[in-house]
Amino acid sequence: MQADTSAAGGTPVLRLSGITKSFPGVRALNGVGLELFPGQVTALIGENGAGKSTIVKILTGIYQPDEGVIQVNGRETRFPTAQAAGEAGVTAIHQETVLFDELTVAENIFIGHAPRGRFGLIDTRRMENEARRLLASIGADLDPRQRLRELGIASKHLVAIARALSIDAQVVIMDEPTAALSHKEIHELYELVEKLKAQGKAILFISHKFDEIFRIADRWTVFRDGQYVGAGLMSEVDEARLVQLMVGREVDQIYPKRHAEIGAPVLTVAGYSHPTEFDDIGFTLHRGEILGFYGLVGAGRSEVMQALFGITRPSKGACRVDGQVMVLRSTAEAVNAGIVYVPEDRGRQGAVKGLPIFQNVTLPSLNRTSRSGFLRLAEEFAMARDYTQRLDLRAASLDQDIGLLSGGNQQKVVIAKWLATKPRIIILDEPTKGIDIGSKAAVHDFMSELAAEGLAVIMVSSEIPEVLGMSDRVIVMREGRIAAEFTGDQMTPENLVRAAAGIEGAAA
Ligand SMILES: Nc1ncnc2c1ncn2[C@@H]1O[C@H](COP(=O)(O)OP(=O)(O)OP(=O)(O)O)[C@@H](O)[C@H]1O
Ligand SMILES: [Mg+2]
Repeated sequence: MQADTSAAGGTPVLRLSGITKSFPGVRALNGVGLELFPGQVTALIGENGAGKSTIVKILTGIYQPDEGVIQVNGRETRFPTAQAAGEAGVTAIHQETVLFDELTVAENIFIGHAPRGRFGLIDTRRMENEARRLLASIGADLDPRQRLRELGIASKHLVAIARALSIDAQVVIMDEPTAALSHKEIHELYELVEKLKAQGKAILFISHKFDEIFRIADRWTVFRDGQYVGAGLMSEVDEARLVQLMVGREVDQIYPKRHAEIGAPVLTVAGYSHPTEFDDIGFTLHRGEILGFYGLVGAGRSEVMQALFGITRPSKGACRVDGQVMVLRSTAEAVNAGIVYVPEDRGRQGAVKGLPIFQNVTLPSLNRTSRSGFLRLAEEFAMARDYTQRLDLRAASLDQDIGLLSGGNQQKVVIAKWLATKPRIIILDEPTKGIDIGSKAAVHDFMSELAAEGLAVIMVSSEIPEVLGMSDRVIVMREGRIAAEFTGDQMTPENLVRAAAGIEGAAA
């Protein structure tokens, strides 16, 4: 099937048709089409593994299609290299942007197309000035001479955006650009998208978040299992229709919370404090309970969880597991105490690239599967199969290198890996970020099932429907402190938002 041009307003800047791309064991794209128009944002929507990032890599010369045609301004062309795509005016901010930690901000922005002076030498002064101007134009207060490794994820993202702008692009591709950003930065990114639109650039925007798709996109295209399913105008579609197209079925019950007996306390935290990140945190977590932690980005939720996992140390306070005081000096000690933490930044702290999926799952549980000193491969495999199936993993085989999975599927493997350690307490930080709407239900279902078996769960989430749909109880943090706690019918969106923002009148 091909994109329908009849509904198009104007001529597409970029037009793909009949694009096919196979990898050993998977056909990532099967005859897909895509059109991008000047001054318009097209959202590309599809489940984890649908082929979205693959089409981006084809558009940016990283992969060559097996079949199909690429047209720029009506003329057929090819992108044999990333440089060729850049010269044709196509630039991307990738899901996992390739930046270089050892280079400076300016060098990262201009790598491959630095301004050169006489004798062909790189004109560092000009490059830095130009970098400063580009960063200022997107409101990023960064020093062009700083090394990238000194920056946080959000700042690195801004560098990637500045790089995209440094090429005078006609087409700007953003692959899940807001996944790593805070609220404030997300708004800045939306403003940036508006600016790019006003400059007449065609934008391809990939996201799993429907609220932002409806907010910024003008058009949509849906892929499912490497196939083109449809395209149209945002003004003529609703969320239910898009979800149905992308999943191929109705997604009704998104929060399959089961009833679980809330048991005895397992974890008691009292007076936990940190010099800069959080203060006087105290709560109790019970067997079978899902305890939600809601708050704005920067409220200190992840920092508290990192302290409970032995990544950082509190300056004061005590943590008890089954009544016994624990001093958690390392993640190994936390794991021994039965506590595991699945971080938000799973790409960095989670997947071991180069290793097959099944080993990524079983890695931390090796003492469960190894007997008399050697690994029982069959057992390892069975465990990996069980956990990944329950999380709706889409992979050609469990022997596959995890690095070859789509972004969302890598995340499912990392979650499976920590669940497979059979912890007593699991802390999930933004468990469904980057995971498509269909698979979200699988993740929630599995969480709920494990809680029913007696696992104690802490879920840090910034998504109100997820927090309300999954939690037995919700703690709201604000500016490093516990602002409120809600149970039962006090758990409402208004109460959560008010407590998180510090607005008077929140019923506590
Ligand atoms: N280099 C590769 N080798 C083998 N398989 C690959 C490779 N790159 C992608 N794939 C496979 O192609 C399919 C499409 O992956 P892609 O990354 O395009 O998905 P996606 O739509 O971006 O998903 P997500 O929402 O999870 O980011 C997946 O099955 C993936 O495992
Ligand atoms: Mg992707």
